[in-house]
Amino acid sequence: MIVIIIGANRGIGAALANQLQTENQHTLIRTSRAFGSLKQTDTLNWTIHCDVTKEASIDAMKKQLEDQFPNLDWVINCAGILHTDQYMPEKSLDQITTHQMTQNFMTNAVGHLLVIKALQRLITVGTQALVCSVSARIGSIEDNHLGGWYAYRMSKAALNMGIKTTAIEWARLFPQVKFLLIHPGTTDTDLSAPFQNRLPTGQLQAATRTAKLLIKQLKSNQNHTSKHPLFIDYNGADIDW
Ligand SMILES: NC(=O)c1ccc[n+]([C@@H]2O[C@H](COP(=O)([O-])OP(=O)(O)OC[C@H]3O[C@@H](n4cnc5c(N)ncnc54)[C@H](OP(=O)(O)O)[C@@H]3O)[C@@H](O)[C@H]2O)c1
Repeated sequence: MIVIIIGANRGIGAALANQLQTENQHTLIRTSRAFGSLKQTDTLNWTIHCDVTKEASIDAMKKQLEDQFPNLDWVINCAGILHTDQYMPEKSLDQITTHQMTQNFMTNAVGHLLVIKALQRLITVGTQALVCSVSARIGSIEDNHLGGWYAYRMSKAALNMGIKTTAIEWARLFPQVKFLLIHPGTTDTDLSAPFQNRLPTGQLQAATRTAKLLIKQLKSNQNHTSKHPLFIDYNGADIDW
């Protein structure tokens, strides 16, 4: 199997890549904004630069990959942003800004679709493929009982809609490609770090545990029969849209 993980140099993406590497049977392509041009790091492992907010970066990645890899079996997109040095998630409408909204939408939603668009030929040429975006329960409109976190919440809902729309289109064109939106659970990474002290005991998962749970779901759902994406959590339970 050839697997590309977008955002695999830290956090959940790195844990997923490390866990898959232990199986020692998959070609793994890890992306990060910190990596350079396509580079083979050992027999089965490659790294490449990708910034999902920049079409030129995604296109450059595609051009390098298509020379080397006949097709991609799994495309797992972990790229995500919640806070930066400049902003934290909004607590109220007064705090929303165009910058925060745009950056969250570009990274969490638009960038995921741009990657699929660019890699379309490599994803669809084989007899089956799985496209998975790491989403978040907070993107569920039904499940929004607390409010707040406008940009992140809205961008994840937009991601879910974008992936569902792609899945409907591709169900006609490329029925061999399956789509998955997965909530990883609250995981100990840079993204969750500022909020961890408010969590109930036992709710924070180590990234290695999250990776094992997500890989189990990827394997068991890679041939699902729905024309729509599954929107599930790390235990495989359906999440309301
Ligand atoms: N941690 C949680 O509790 C939690 C809960 C629900 C959902 N999630 C979701 O899980 C995913 C992974 O999050 P994480 O917790 O692992 O966060 P993290 O440790 O902060 O990692 C964020 C990842 O996103 C990548 N990224 C950010 N901006 C990017 C850009 N412009 N282009 C390409 N890649 C970009 C980073 O890659 P670089 O190496 O390029 O920086 C990094 O791999 C995100 O989609 C997040 O929303 C996390």
